[in-house]
Amino acid sequence: MPAIVVVGTQWGDEGKGKIIDVLTERAHFVVRFQGGNNAGHTLVINKKKYILHIIPSGIFHPNTICVIGNGVVVDPAVLIEEINRLKKEGIEVTPQRLKISERAHTIMPYHQALDLAREATANKKDRIGTTGRGIGPCYEDKVGRRGFRLIDLTKKDFFRERLKKILEEKNFLLKYLGAEPLDFEEIFEKYLTYGQYLQPYLCDTSTLLWEAYKKGDYILFEGAQGTFLDVDYGTYPYVTSSNTLAGNACAGSGFGPSHINAVLGIVKAYTTRVGEGPFPTEQTNEIGNYLREKGGEFGSTTGRPRRCGWLDLVMIKTAVQLNGITGLALTKLDVLSGLERIKVCVGYKLEGRPISYFPSTIEELTKVEPIYEDLPGWREDITTVRDFEALPQQAKDYVRLIEEYIKVPIQMLSTGPERENCLILKDPSF
Ligand code: IMP
Repeated sequence: MPAIVVVGTQWGDEGKGKIIDVLTERAHFVVRFQGGNNAGHTLVINKKKYILHIIPSGIFHPNTICVIGNGVVVDPAVLIEEINRLKKEGIEVTPQRLKISERAHTIMPYHQALDLAREATANKKDRIGTTGRGIGPCYEDKVGRRGFRLIDLTKKDFFRERLKKILEEKNFLLKYLGAEPLDFEEIFEKYLTYGQYLQPYLCDTSTLLWEAYKKGDYILFEGAQGTFLDVDYGTYPYVTSSNTLAGNACAGSGFGPSHINAVLGIVKAYTTRVGEGPFPTEQTNEIGNYLREKGGEFGSTTGRPRRCGWLDLVMIKTAVQLNGITGLALTKLDVLSGLERIKVCVGYKLEGRPISYFPSTIEELTKVEPIYEDLPGWREDITTVRDFEALPQQAKDYVRLIEEYIKVPIQMLSTGPERENCLILKDPSF
């Protein structure tokens, strides 16, 4: 049985949750390996909309075990709230179905306070436009060896001593940034309670996945954010603080790279971005407004309107290289229905000359001019189409152009928010 990594090829919000949900039909395990509750995966099941921030999308399939790997940063308050909310909806979220790495780091209240204070005090040009969930400061502490792992919340004396020391420094920083200092007792008591609540869910998830792999179980790794938010290869510094690339599925879950069979890249039929940073194909005009309204492009974590633009195939080609993508899933093709003309970026020009790479600096990326192919659009509603051949010719041409340029097969095609609005052209699992 396969082990497949699913990643976003753009700036996040490509519709990974929906594709994971469709693939989970057959999967035994769905694993998150990076990011935290900055992510927001939207799923529509039987006309009801669900948004998940931290629990893997596989939770809606009763026979699937969901894993939060060591590479994820967990805000225990948000996780517990999400568990309770799902339970209220009748979804079974037991320690048998949700396994959390004891090594995953904990987002502390000072992480969120620092994230917000840094953004609030930065000049406009230095602002990242973070989700304000404390993700960056938590990863800083992990790498700086000042972090708390979830298991630490169950070790009362150790936690007390370490928190005292660390909080002193954090309060100093918070004061420097003009924010209120935080109270030791309040954090200590609250986080001990969280530790007790979460203890039954904690385990060594690497061993769990290794045993599953040896048994022949099907494992799906669910990426969060997208390739161009990767801390190394994204549009630095306008990135998130983890490696979002497929390679991190291994380090972020304790699973060996030689056991991965395929990498599925999710491509939205146009491009969106939330937060600051360059965006070569952005349309700050009626086209951008059309895509935002029709595609419901408002952040599922912060509610911010997403910036919208044409599909950028230079980015997708780069994402194929960075992630080792073996197949693509194209999402939200239905949003393009009704546009007279559709543009696709097939190259960049820098200072009048074509370039063959995705620039590594913001200075260059801000200056590139997209080279577009201009295609005719289609009017028909395609949400009910169940067969590729039944799509309007212009939609088929759009899909084929992407495949020809990227040279990776499109294996899945999503034409609407519901589970059934999805064509599987070739099952990526086999
Ligand atoms: P952070 O991850 O909250 O530190 O935010 C850093 C950047 O990543 C900001 O531009 C956010 O808008 C963006 N970001 C973080 N998570 C997501 C996501 O799930 N989808 C889209 N953008 C995201």
